Amino acid sequence: MKFLLLWLFFVASAWCGVLASECNGKPDADAQPNMNPINKAAPKLVASIKNGKLYKVPGNSVLNVLHVWGTPYEMGYAHGTLLKKEASMFMNQVWDYLEEQVIEAINGSVKWNFRDWFLRDVANLGVEAACDLEVLATAKYSGPYFLEEIKGLADATGLDYKKILRIHMLGELTKGSCSMFGAWGSMLPYDGVLQLRSLDWNMDGPFKNYPQITVYHPTSDQTDANGMKAQAFVNVGWTAWIGSITGVSSAKLAISEIGVSFPDATFGKESRFGVPFTYILRDILQFDYTLDDAVNRIANAHRTCDLILGVGDGKENRGFRGVQYSAGVSNFFDDQNMKPSNESWHPKIKDAVYFGMDWLCPGYNVVLAQQLQKYHGKLTAEIAIRDVVSIIQSGSTHIAIYDLTHDLMYVSFSKSDSESGPKAAYDRQFIQLDTDALFAVSSP
Ligand SMILES: *[C@@H]1O[C@H](CO)[C@@H](O)[C@H](O)[C@H]1NC(C)=O
Ligand SMILES: *[C@@H]1O[C@H](CO)[C@@H](O)[C@H](O)[C@H]1NC(C)=O
Repeated sequence: MKFLLLWLFFVASAWCGVLASECNGKPDADAQPNMNPINKAAPKLVASIKNGKLYKVPGNSVLNVLHVWGTPYEMGYAHGTLLKKEASMFMNQVWDYLEEQVIEAINGSVKWNFRDWFLRDVANLGVEAACDLEVLATAKYSGPYFLEEIKGLADATGLDYKKILRIHMLGELTKGSCSMFGAWGSMLPYDGVLQLRSLDWNMDGPFKNYPQITVYHPTSDQTDANGMKAQAFVNVGWTAWIGSITGVSSAKLAISEIGVSFPDATFGKESRFGVPFTYILRDILQFDYTLDDAVNRIANAHRTCDLILGVGDGKENRGFRGVQYSAGVSNFFDDQNMKPSNESWHPKIKDAVYFGMDWLCPGYNVVLAQQLQKYHGKLTAEIAIRDVVSIIQSGSTHIAIYDLTHDLMYVSFSKSDSESGPKAAYDRQFIQLDTDALFAVSSP
């Protein structure tokens, strides 16, 4: 323990390196619109136990729609009981995959964008100890309810509690390049808020085979450290994954997230000591009621790595903020003060905030801006699916489009091993889910 802590302080002062360049990727100029009809079938109940119900969407055999009720432990236990086999397979496969990818990254044939300090820790200590260091660095800043839920999952599945916990550090250890927009007012043909979350992360590992939408119905006596009351929310991710990267709450708050590999100097230094971003995003969904609550939570957090976040609030059309997020800064953007400021590749658009793949990433931002300008005043979820995500080619792993005004969410996932068709989520059939109906599902 002492050794670990000493080591932690040593590496924390040594690992950070700032990249001075910009990303050079861009979408294919021949990218085609996504013409698949949207699957609007309502989820069908396939299993029910104490504190849990499992649904499948007709026409999609892979996606699980899981509802859980109760205390954090009870929700984890119900999750692990209904999906015992899948949870065990997925967690074990993710761990093996992580070890394999890390070794390849250290050997030089990099597939995953791991953080440099993590690779250094692994080289010196092994994968388990490197993940444990991360657990230590973030433990103090993580709500106890995360650990209770993981305990419930471990008890129901027989999985090693520590293994589940280590895997939940993944967000801090790797970087996904993703895209987002928030659009309101004059951007839309109706009065409201529309938001995109595209995740470009991994299509080769086990993730593609375990997509899951988990609908949490926490007991109302649960609160966070500041006494904010828990509410129902939808978490889009994978089986046995309890952090949030994508989701929407019953308060009509939705989240978007981009990992930054090409920051500018305004981000400052990254830190390892703080709340994992997948936990703060979940806290927003679980506890925050307004956009202001989320802004305060982010501003006051012990933040760690460089990210761009997005939070939308569909209540009375309160709007959307993009967030420049790092250990040192949290800057909140609307359409007037959006950064980075560069009219040639990141032009300001009235009533929209957007980011394509990264902070300094002209190639993707130019095309995203073009598509948003083209549909200014006409943008809907259907158009975003047909003519935005497919043309900017962002959202390979999964996509959520939140129509916060009409309580609808549209999701797509990368091709699993048992499916046919194109690989990337942005080229595949989207599923429409009525979030009001999800929150109204009654406990078993
Ligand atoms: C990568 O490193 C591992 C562990 O040191 C070694 O066993 C393996 O052969 C290496 N692979 C390549 C392709 O160099
Ligand atoms: C805008 O971006 C381009 C391309 O990265 C760069 O050459 C130019 O200097 C930037 N302009 C400003 C005002 O920052």
